[in-house]
Amino acid sequence: MKSKKFVFMFAVTFVACLLMTGIGFAKTVGIVMPTKSLERWNRDGEYLKQQFESRGYDVNIRYSDNKIDQQVKDIEGLIANNVDLLVIAPINGLALTQVLQDAEDEIPVIAYDRLIMNTKAVRYYVSFDNYKVGVLQGEFIKKMFDLDNADGKTFNIEFTAGDPADNNAPVFFAGAFDTLKPYIDKGILVVPSGQTEFQQVATKAWDSAVALERMQNILASHYADGRVLDIALCNNDSTALGVTKAITDDYAGDNKVIITGQDGDVANLANIIDGKQTMTVYKAVANEAVVTLDLGVAIMDGKEPGEELIKDSKWDFACAFDTESYNNGKGFVKSYLLTPLIVTQENLQKELVDTGYYYMDGKYPKAK
Ligand code: BGC
Repeated sequence: MKSKKFVFMFAVTFVACLLMTGIGFAKTVGIVMPTKSLERWNRDGEYLKQQFESRGYDVNIRYSDNKIDQQVKDIEGLIANNVDLLVIAPINGLALTQVLQDAEDEIPVIAYDRLIMNTKAVRYYVSFDNYKVGVLQGEFIKKMFDLDNADGKTFNIEFTAGDPADNNAPVFFAGAFDTLKPYIDKGILVVPSGQTEFQQVATKAWDSAVALERMQNILASHYADGRVLDIALCNNDSTALGVTKAITDDYAGDNKVIITGQDGDVANLANIIDGKQTMTVYKAVANEAVVTLDLGVAIMDGKEPGEELIKDSKWDFACAFDTESYNNGKGFVKSYLLTPLIVTQENLQKELVDTGYYYMDGKYPKAK
């Protein structure tokens, strides 16, 4: 009898302890990624899941198949499940105002990589310095062709940008275009298609097939007579893939066209090794997930972090706290911005493989 009473008392104390510490009642993080069809979001989703689970959170992750309606449903589902935090990379930054109204006072939202517009529900933004991504692409071209000492030489360039629905896309383009515009103005860089406006060079859904078709048209209309194309500046790797295919299959010239990209998708890294693409701007999404974790934990603990999140962290990478670059229409969104870097044939091993982000599978890198 005595031992039964003891077991009962023990059980009561144990449950009370669980309740007090919160163990057994793990908080849930809802993660919504745009699609599995663009490579990087698979990596982002996986890293984010691992990070939050490693700190004992439950994770409910959805990929929205690049369909806005699907993403709205995914978010509705997570709000209905009463998740404690939402981490969302939007497909269309303008399309979530309505659905996030339900989260506004209840569930904190982190806009992940892409800004979410016209809503107060977004408490923070975690991304890279997106303008700098474009600047790095532009500066790479500037250096490669020594544009400051062109000495009467001229070079032909075509631009390919991203999805107009993605707030990042015009920012990448502006970074690259602003860097190269002085040389276009001086006639050192020439754009034979005449397409220099973001809307003209944009690629719906960042789709490789769309970028392929547009470049095929440009080649047929402006380069069929043997005109040389020197540079295809692509704002990311999925568009670079389409553009590279168009150039490989349909370009009449025999010069090596310099092609830029962004992300370090495995197919593009293979193209870099094979000399078909010249560079990519790499963004360590594993680190983006680390920042999101520490920020998410702080928010769920009721804090409203600022600069100190960086100072108190154990991060071994650069990250800036920014309160004045990203306005989502309802005000400036507090942002943590990581730093992108240029990857070429020369530093690929050092920056991507030796650092552990990729491993070599024969001749080519694979993402871990
Ligand atoms: C991301 C890029 C990516 C693109 C297409 C952008 O919002 O920042 O890294 O290449 O989406 O997935």
